[in-house]
Amino acid sequence: LPSFPFFTSKSQVPKLDPEKLPEHIAIIMDGNGRWATAKGLPRTAGHKVGSETFRKIATYCNNIGIKHLTVYAFSTENWKRPKEEVDTIMGLLKQYLLEACEKMVKDNISLKVLGDTSRLSPEIQEIIQRTDELSLQTTGLKVNVCINYGGRGELVHAMQKLAQKVSSGELDPEDITEKTISDALYTAGVPDPDLIIRPSGEVRISNFLLWQSAYAEFYFTPVLWPDFDENELDQAIISYQTRSRRFGGIKKA
Ligand code: IPE
Ligand code: IPE
Ligand code: MG
Repeated sequence: LPSFPFFTSKSQVPKLDPEKLPEHIAIIMDGNGRWATAKGLPRTAGHKVGSETFRKIATYCNNIGIKHLTVYAFSTENWKRPKEEVDTIMGLLKQYLLEACEKMVKDNISLKVLGDTSRLSPEIQEIIQRTDELSLQTTGLKVNVCINYGGRGELVHAMQKLAQKVSSGELDPEDITEKTISDALYTAGVPDPDLIIRPSGEVRISNFLLWQSAYAEFYFTPVLWPDFDENELDQAIISYQTRSRRFGGIKKA
Protein backbone atom coordinates (compact mmCIF):
# COMPACT_ATOMS: atom_id res chain seq x y z
CA LEU A 1 0.00 0.00 0.00
CA PRO A 2 1.50 3.40 -0.87
CA SER A 3 2.46 5.18 2.31
CA PHE A 4 2.52 8.58 0.69
CA PRO A 5 0.85 11.55 2.40
CA PHE A 6 -1.78 11.65 -0.40
CA PHE A 7 -3.16 8.36 0.79
CA THR A 8 -3.27 9.24 4.47
CA SER A 9 -6.74 8.62 5.77
CA LYS A 10 -7.75 8.87 9.42
CA SER A 11 -7.15 5.13 9.89
CA GLN A 12 -3.60 5.54 8.60
CA VAL A 13 -2.60 8.26 11.05
CA PRO A 14 -0.08 6.44 13.25
CA LYS A 15 -1.42 5.45 16.61
CA LEU A 16 0.42 4.84 19.82
CA ASP A 17 1.44 1.19 20.15
CA PRO A 18 0.93 0.17 23.80
CA GLU A 19 3.27 -2.80 23.26
CA LYS A 20 6.26 -0.62 22.36
CA LEU A 21 6.24 2.06 25.03
CA PRO A 22 9.52 3.65 26.08
CA GLU A 23 10.41 2.33 29.51
CA HIS A 24 11.87 5.65 30.62
CA ILE A 25 10.75 9.09 29.43
CA ALA A 26 12.67 12.22 30.46
CA ILE A 27 11.33 15.75 29.97
CA ILE A 28 12.99 19.17 30.10
CA MET A 29 9.99 21.17 31.33
CA ASP A 30 10.80 24.39 29.48
CA GLY A 31 8.87 27.44 28.30
CA ASN A 32 7.00 28.54 31.42
CA GLY A 33 8.40 32.07 31.34
CA ARG A 34 7.67 32.68 27.65
CA TRP A 35 4.16 31.30 28.08
CA ALA A 36 3.45 33.82 30.83
CA THR A 37 5.13 36.77 29.09
CA ALA A 38 3.09 36.12 25.92
CA LYS A 39 -0.05 36.43 28.04
CA GLY A 40 1.13 39.60 29.76
CA LEU A 41 1.54 37.72 33.05
CA PRO A 42 4.53 37.56 35.42
CA ARG A 43 6.89 34.62 34.74
CA THR A 44 5.88 33.09 38.06
CA ALA A 45 2.36 32.54 36.66
CA GLY A 46 3.93 30.32 34.00
CA HIS A 47 5.63 28.21 36.67
CA LYS A 48 2.30 27.72 38.46
CA VAL A 49 0.57 26.46 35.32
CA GLY A 50 3.68 24.43 34.44
CA SER A 51 3.48 22.61 37.76
CA GLU A 52 -0.11 21.63 36.90
CA THR A 53 1.10 20.29 33.55
CA PHE A 54 3.64 18.18 35.42
CA ARG A 55 0.90 16.64 37.62
CA LYS A 56 -1.22 15.91 34.54
CA ILE A 57 1.62 14.31 32.61
CA ALA A 58 2.80 12.20 35.58
CA THR A 59 -0.74 10.88 36.07
CA TYR A 60 -1.00 10.10 32.36
CA CYS A 61 2.35 8.26 32.35
CA ASN A 62 1.16 6.18 35.29
CA ASN A 63 -2.12 5.40 33.51
CA ILE A 64 -0.55 4.25 30.24
CA GLY A 65 2.10 2.13 31.98
CA ILE A 66 5.34 4.10 31.68
CA LYS A 67 7.83 2.73 34.23
CA HIS A 68 10.14 5.73 34.75
CA LEU A 69 9.54 9.45 34.28
CA THR A 70 12.34 11.94 34.92
CA VAL A 71 11.61 15.66 34.81
CA TYR A 72 14.02 18.58 34.88
CA ALA A 73 12.47 21.06 37.31
CA PHE A 74 15.39 23.26 38.41
CA SER A 75 18.96 23.25 37.13
CA THR A 76 22.19 24.13 38.93
CA GLU A 77 22.26 27.17 36.62
CA ASN A 78 18.72 28.33 37.45
CA TRP A 79 19.99 29.99 40.70
CA LYS A 80 21.05 32.87 38.42
CA ARG A 81 17.41 33.97 38.17
CA PRO A 82 15.80 36.69 40.30
CA LYS A 83 15.21 35.57 43.89
CA GLU A 84 11.46 36.01 43.59
CA GLU A 85 11.32 33.58 40.67
CA VAL A 86 13.57 31.04 42.43
CA ASP A 87 11.43 31.31 45.57
CA THR A 88 8.25 30.72 43.58
CA ILE A 89 9.68 27.63 41.89
CA MET A 90 10.93 26.24 45.23
CA GLY A 91 7.51 26.92 46.78
CA LEU A 92 5.77 25.03 43.98
CA LEU A 93 8.18 22.10 44.31
CA LYS A 94 7.62 22.00 48.06
CA GLN A 95 3.86 22.01 47.52
CA TYR A 96 4.15 19.17 45.02
CA LEU A 97 6.34 17.08 47.36
CA LEU A 98 3.96 17.62 50.27
CA GLU A 99 1.03 16.59 48.11
CA ALA A 100 2.99 13.53 46.97
CA CYS A 101 3.38 12.46 50.62
CA GLU A 102 -0.43 12.35 50.87
CA LYS A 103 -1.12 10.63 47.57
CA MET A 104 1.79 8.55 46.38
CA VAL A 105 0.96 5.34 48.26
CA LYS A 106 -2.68 5.46 47.10
CA ASP A 107 -1.56 6.16 43.51
CA ASN A 108 1.26 3.59 43.79
CA ILE A 109 3.82 6.13 42.53
CA SER A 110 7.34 6.44 43.89
CA LEU A 111 9.24 9.69 43.95
CA LYS A 112 12.91 10.51 44.00
CA VAL A 113 14.59 13.90 43.96
CA LEU A 114 17.80 13.93 41.90
CA GLY A 115 20.41 16.62 42.37
CA ASP A 116 22.48 18.28 45.04
CA THR A 117 19.76 18.52 47.68
CA SER A 118 22.15 20.02 50.27
CA ARG A 119 21.45 23.49 48.85
CA LEU A 120 17.67 23.11 49.25
CA SER A 121 15.84 24.44 52.31
CA PRO A 122 15.92 22.19 55.42
CA GLU A 123 12.14 21.94 55.11
CA ILE A 124 12.31 20.57 51.57
CA GLN A 125 15.13 18.21 52.57
CA GLU A 126 12.94 16.82 55.32
CA ILE A 127 10.00 16.26 52.94
CA ILE A 128 12.37 14.48 50.54
CA GLN A 129 13.28 12.09 53.36
CA ARG A 130 9.60 11.31 53.81
CA THR A 131 8.97 10.71 50.09
CA ASP A 132 12.04 8.41 50.07
CA GLU A 133 10.54 6.35 52.88
CA LEU A 134 7.08 6.23 51.28
CA SER A 135 8.63 5.19 47.96
CA LEU A 136 9.71 1.90 49.55
CA GLN A 137 6.03 0.91 49.68
CA THR A 138 5.11 1.50 46.04
CA THR A 139 5.63 -0.50 42.85
CA GLY A 140 4.11 1.66 40.05
CA LEU A 141 5.54 4.58 38.09
CA LYS A 142 8.85 5.87 39.38
CA VAL A 143 9.03 9.66 39.10
CA ASN A 144 12.41 11.37 39.36
CA VAL A 145 12.29 15.12 39.90
CA CYS A 146 15.59 16.85 39.14
CA ILE A 147 16.09 19.79 41.49
CA ASN A 148 19.40 21.66 41.70
CA TYR A 149 20.47 19.12 39.11
CA GLY A 150 23.19 19.46 36.50
CA GLY A 151 24.69 16.65 34.45
CA ARG A 152 28.24 17.90 34.95
CA GLY A 153 27.74 18.41 38.68
CA GLU A 154 26.37 14.88 38.89
CA LEU A 155 29.48 13.53 37.17
CA VAL A 156 31.77 15.55 39.48
CA HIS A 157 29.91 14.14 42.49
CA ALA A 158 30.24 10.59 41.10
CA MET A 159 33.98 11.04 40.42
CA GLN A 160 34.50 12.26 43.98
CA LYS A 161 32.67 9.22 45.37
CA LEU A 162 34.76 6.84 43.26
CA ALA A 163 38.02 8.67 44.07
CA GLN A 164 37.25 8.34 47.78
CA LYS A 165 36.78 4.59 47.37
CA VAL A 166 40.07 4.37 45.49
CA SER A 167 41.97 6.35 48.12
CA SER A 168 40.53 4.22 50.94
CA GLY A 169 41.60 1.07 49.07
CA GLU A 170 38.01 -0.10 48.61
CA LEU A 171 38.21 0.16 44.81
CA ASP A 172 40.96 -0.52 42.27
CA PRO A 173 41.24 2.07 39.46
CA GLU A 174 41.14 -0.83 36.96
CA ASP A 175 37.77 -1.84 38.36
CA ILE A 176 36.15 1.44 37.37
CA THR A 177 33.73 0.55 34.60
CA GLU A 178 30.73 2.15 32.91
CA LYS A 179 28.62 0.32 35.47
CA THR A 180 30.51 1.65 38.52
CA ILE A 181 30.14 5.16 37.10
CA SER A 182 26.40 4.68 36.38
CA ASP A 183 25.96 3.34 39.91
CA ALA A 184 27.64 6.43 41.40
CA LEU A 185 25.24 8.84 39.66
CA TYR A 186 22.03 10.22 41.20
CA THR A 187 20.17 7.95 38.77
CA ALA A 188 21.75 4.74 40.17
CA GLY A 189 19.42 1.83 39.46
CA VAL A 190 17.32 3.76 36.94
CA PRO A 191 17.64 2.55 33.33
CA ASP A 192 18.91 5.15 30.82
CA PRO A 193 16.16 7.29 29.27
CA ASP A 194 14.75 5.92 26.01
CA LEU A 195 13.07 9.19 25.02
CA ILE A 196 14.03 12.75 25.99
CA ILE A 197 11.44 15.43 25.24
CA ARG A 198 12.14 19.16 25.18
CA PRO A 199 9.23 21.51 24.59
CA SER A 200 9.52 25.30 24.03
CA GLY A 201 11.43 25.18 20.73
CA GLU A 202 14.93 25.10 22.24
CA VAL A 203 17.11 22.44 20.66
CA ARG A 204 19.72 21.87 23.35
CA ILE A 205 20.35 19.63 26.33
CA SER A 206 21.09 22.37 28.94
CA ASN A 207 23.16 20.09 31.20
CA PHE A 208 20.47 17.38 31.54
CA LEU A 209 21.36 13.65 31.88
CA LEU A 210 24.68 14.01 30.01
CA TRP A 211 25.94 10.49 30.76
CA GLN A 212 22.55 8.78 30.63
CA SER A 213 21.47 10.23 27.28
CA ALA A 214 24.17 8.40 25.27
CA TYR A 215 21.60 6.47 23.20
CA ALA A 216 18.37 8.31 23.99
CA GLU A 217 15.98 9.33 21.22
CA PHE A 218 15.27 13.08 21.24
CA TYR A 219 11.97 14.78 20.55
CA PHE A 220 11.68 18.56 20.26
CA THR A 221 8.45 20.53 19.97
CA PRO A 222 7.72 24.27 19.89
CA VAL A 223 4.81 23.81 22.33
CA LEU A 224 5.51 25.64 25.60
CA TRP A 225 5.42 23.46 28.72
CA PRO A 226 2.24 24.98 30.23
CA ASP A 227 0.43 24.06 26.97
CA PHE A 228 1.88 20.55 26.81
CA ASP A 229 -0.74 17.84 27.28
CA GLU A 230 -1.50 14.12 26.94
CA ASN A 231 -1.90 14.42 23.18
CA GLU A 232 1.54 16.06 22.88
CA LEU A 233 3.05 13.20 24.87
CA ASP A 234 1.31 10.70 22.57
CA GLN A 235 2.87 12.49 19.56
CA ALA A 236 6.32 12.20 21.13
CA ILE A 237 5.83 8.50 21.87
CA ILE A 238 4.49 7.84 18.35
CA SER A 239 7.57 9.55 16.91
CA TYR A 240 9.78 7.42 19.17
CA GLN A 241 7.99 4.29 17.97
CA THR A 242 8.86 5.05 14.33
CA ARG A 243 12.60 5.30 15.05
CA SER A 244 15.10 2.57 14.33
CA ARG A 245 17.38 2.30 17.38
CA ARG A 246 20.62 0.69 16.31
CA PHE A 247 22.94 1.35 19.25
CA GLY A 248 25.85 1.36 16.82
CA GLY A 249 24.88 -1.94 15.24
CA ILE A 250 23.02 -2.46 11.98
CA LYS A 251 19.31 -2.48 11.36
CA LYS A 252 17.65 -5.84 11.97
CA ALA A 253 16.24 -7.39 8.77
C1 IPE B 1 11.27 26.15 32.62
O1 IPE B 1 10.70 27.30 32.08
C2 IPE B 1 11.30 26.17 34.12
C3 IPE B 1 12.64 26.33 34.71
C4 IPE B 1 13.74 26.45 34.05
C5 IPE B 1 12.72 26.38 36.14
P1 IPE B 1 11.55 28.65 31.92
O2 IPE B 1 11.34 29.47 33.14
O3 IPE B 1 12.94 28.36 31.54
O4 IPE B 1 10.76 29.31 30.69
P2 IPE B 1 11.41 30.13 29.53
O5 IPE B 1 12.43 29.25 28.89
O6 IPE B 1 12.00 31.36 30.13
O7 IPE B 1 10.26 30.40 28.63
C1 IPE C 1 16.52 23.89 31.45
O1 IPE C 1 15.85 25.04 31.01
C2 IPE C 1 16.25 23.64 32.89
C3 IPE C 1 14.86 23.30 33.23
C4 IPE C 1 13.87 23.20 32.38
C5 IPE C 1 14.63 23.05 34.62
P1 IPE C 1 16.53 26.47 31.00
O2 IPE C 1 15.48 27.42 30.56
O3 IPE C 1 17.20 26.74 32.30
O4 IPE C 1 17.65 26.26 29.88
P2 IPE C 1 18.39 27.34 28.96
O5 IPE C 1 18.91 28.41 29.86
O6 IPE C 1 17.36 27.85 27.99
O7 IPE C 1 19.45 26.55 28.26
MG1 MG D 1 13.83 28.11 29.75
